[in-house]
Amino acid sequence: MSRRLDGKVAIVTGAARGIGEGIADLFASEGAKVVITDILEAQGEEVASRLQARGDRAIFQKLDVSDERSWQAVVGATVSNFGKLTTIVNNAARFSATGLTDTTVDDWNKVIAVNLTGTYLGMKTAMPELLRSGNGSVVNICSLYGLIATTGYTAYHASKGGVRMLSKAAALEYAKKGVRINSVYPGDTETPAMDNLTEEENAKVLSLVPMGVAGKPLDMAYGALYLASDEASYVTGAELVIDGGWSLP
Ligand SMILES: NC(=O)c1ccc[n+]([C@@H]2O[C@H](COP(=O)([O-])OP(=O)(O)OC[C@H]3O[C@@H](n4cnc5c(N)ncnc54)[C@H](O)[C@@H]3O)[C@@H](O)[C@H]2O)c1
Repeated sequence: MSRRLDGKVAIVTGAARGIGEGIADLFASEGAKVVITDILEAQGEEVASRLQARGDRAIFQKLDVSDERSWQAVVGATVSNFGKLTTIVNNAARFSATGLTDTTVDDWNKVIAVNLTGTYLGMKTAMPELLRSGNGSVVNICSLYGLIATTGYTAYHASKGGVRMLSKAAALEYAKKGVRINSVYPGDTETPAMDNLTEEENAKVLSLVPMGVAGKPLDMAYGALYLASDEASYVTGAELVIDGGWSLP
């Protein structure tokens, strides 16, 4: 039986937990060979072992997305393990919940380094292999907060707004070269990153979501699956919003 990602070799960043884990899991079950990457080694290894135990082809590689040399090592390891690289999912992120004057320069730099520079480095480092594959694809996990403004997430909004235009500019640049670049825009999603919200904060967020419930990592993973698959071969520069309607009003 053919699966939707047969023949693909994908690097997924921030895949030790949350949405990234959901994407790695779904990609592997759809036939991709998956390189699970994260700064969380023990958790990342666990995800890889779980996928291997069910017969999927997955390995873990430690990767700090803000570090160019770390990226070069992971791209090299991917090609030596699986022979090629067709797909990357830039999912890793750092969150910050402070407004303009409360955001320290250190916090600002860290959020930009992971969310925006990390996405740029991923595309830049993987590009020679994506081009060589003849049918490359990038899925950048952006955020609803890259589309709408709220108060109290200054650096995060700025980083995701940057990911949005970085994705579009890259999509245009590579449109004729065999590499598609698309983005997923998650709304409120149940992941460990959201664990520190109080019940009151959670209820406030849900009150803004027309469907009235939070999304699950798998809801986001199905969007990434479509964009990474050959079903989306005519799709580049797209913004796939998966937010239970949050962005509608
Ligand atoms: N959860 C939500 O409600 C939500 C909403 C909108 C967008 N998103 C986006 O979805 C993506 C995944 O978020 P999540 O909720 O699963 O978060 P999460 O915190 O549960 O997972 C993020 C992963 O990224 C990893 N990471 C952090 N810094 C890294 C670095 N320097 N190098 C490599 N890995 C690093 C973390 O270790 C973690 O495993 C992010 O891009 C986030 O901005 C999430």
